[in-house]
Amino acid sequence: MKKVSVIGAGNVGATCADVLARKNFLDEVVLVDIKEGLAEGKALDIWETAPVVGFDTRVTGSTNDYSKTEGSEVVVITSGLPRKPGMSRDDLISTNAKIVKSVTDNVMAHSPEAVIIIVSNPLDVMTYAAHVASGLPASKVFGQAGVLDTARYRAFIASELSVSPRDVQALLMGGHGDTMVPLPRYTTVSGIPVTELIPKDRLDAIIERTKKGGGEIVNLLGTSAWYAPGASAAQMVESVVNNQHHIFPCCVKLDGQWGEDGVYLGAPVKLGRGGVEEIIEIKLNDEEMKDLRTSANHVKDVMKVYDDMKLF
Ligand code: NAI
Ligand code: 2OP
Repeated sequence: MKKVSVIGAGNVGATCADVLARKNFLDEVVLVDIKEGLAEGKALDIWETAPVVGFDTRVTGSTNDYSKTEGSEVVVITSGLPRKPGMSRDDLISTNAKIVKSVTDNVMAHSPEAVIIIVSNPLDVMTYAAHVASGLPASKVFGQAGVLDTARYRAFIASELSVSPRDVQALLMGGHGDTMVPLPRYTTVSGIPVTELIPKDRLDAIIERTKKGGGEIVNLLGTSAWYAPGASAAQMVESVVNNQHHIFPCCVKLDGQWGEDGVYLGAPVKLGRGGVEEIIEIKLNDEEMKDLRTSANHVKDVMKVYDDMKLF
């Protein structure tokens, strides 16, 4: 029985459940939300697309009844407030930390063996919060940010060059915020280094746009994005459940890599059935290393804010 639960049936959670159902590799997707009827309603609506779209994955919903999530192989946590224009992701910590902690406790009571993928913001610190609350090994608790941030970067490069976005391979590290570290040295288009295809000033502009990609959508919509975030989390779930060993940038606990210990940061990892199978410690030059350090220090500051909340 391949079962995945998605906690939070808001914009990102419902989209993730919808994408998972369409991929048609699971027996069941369970949506859970605290708001009465929301998860049931969205799950039913998605399930009613099955005959039209063509999938068999059963999609069910529940209002805060975690017994329905029993035995999930993967749980995606999207519950929490999204940001509004003018807010940073870090501004969400006081509300979302409590939500992520209580949701993680509920998840663990029914699926103690699950792999947990965090989406709620501030992402890197909420991943830390879920790791502490769950007591699971760090390989089983990681966050979605890099798949989305590189998807934005890849989409912008594809637009610039009028090429298929699927031909653009890219890597990005660091925290899920303005300090993220896109890596043009590790970006190719069908094997051709992007630096040979796009002039430096244009590539710098794309990198800046990528760093502020979340804010660009918030300014347009008045709330944060959901299509690309939901699809990104679903792709990570697929790599875990189907043991695909994809290499994705994910938010993981570093254990000495790049001279960082204990901080949650975006890094290239191999994702398979047990979760994070390997953190791939790529070589960084001095400038990339400096940017990664700045990003790590920013995340550490917000982790300290979480520690000071004394929720555990
Ligand atoms: P949303 O407001 O549409 O949905 C959030 C849902 O969480 C709501 O339906 C709410 O009722 C539910 N919720 C709140 N407390 C809960 C609890 N204790 N138990 C269960 N459900 C609960 O927000 P949206 O747009 O779906 O964003 C969700 C989170 O994901 C936000 O924190 C947002 O900042 C973050 N996000 C992260 C991204 C990433 O790349 N990591 C990308 C986009 C959003
Ligand atoms: C995003 O990057 C807000 O984290 C969210 O769209």
